[in-house]
Formats: sequence, structure tokens, C-alpha cells
Amino acid sequence: MTELQTMTTGWAPVCPAEELAAEGSRKAVDLPSGERCVVLNVEGRLHALSALCPHRELTLEGGLVRDGEITCPWHRARFSVETGKGTRASRWALKTFDVAVVDGTIHVQEKEDAS
Ligand code: FES
Repeated sequence: MTELQTMTTGWAPVCPAEELAAEGSRKAVDLPSGERCVVLNVEGRLHALSALCPHRELTLEGGLVRDGEITCPWHRARFSVETGKGTRASRWALKTFDVAVVDGTIHVQEKEDAS
């Protein structure tokens, strides 16, 4: 049995891991649930966040990533790439997803304790 066969059905493939191997790379993907998420390589670690800003449901796929935060390009709300929680007194939070690399492919799934 391969590792992939042991994964639950909630995991969705994103892309080959080599596609996001570079620091700062990112890729947005539509999940089977209909949600869109963005996978980011931040300092060599992969993070997956909802691609829609909770403020006005606009895309933050192109948001600036710096110091562990992604900044929404529309009205500048900032979110931790690690937890999805708003920073700098923002009351909003982004949904986060678990990320795994299996057999060279990045997969994401919804966290059971998503905030
Ligand atoms: S849509 Fe993101 S801060 Fe307004």
C-alpha cells in the first residue's frame, strides 16, 4: 500500500511539489468542495489558506507575503500564513488547510479544527 492509498478522501491534489519548491512561489487551486485555496511557499514551508479575503470575498491570491503575513491587495487586511488569523487588530480570519507532499505531489485538505 502506498502512502497515497492511506490518505483520506478529503485530500485534493494541487500540483507537483517541484512547482512550489522556490521560496515565494504560490499556486491557487479549486478544491472539490468548491472552495478556492492558495498554497504558498514561505521560507521553505508550505501553507494553504482560503484564497478569498473574508472582508469582501475578493481574491488575495496576489497578496504580498512578508514576515509571515499575507496582505490582501484590496484593503490591506493582513493574515498570518501559519494560522490564518488576522493580524494588526483585524477581526477577520482566513480558513487554513492541511498540506502534505505525497509521492512528489502537494495535497491539501480542510482542517477539522479550521478557524
Ligand atoms: S477584500 Fe481584503 S481587505 Fe477588503
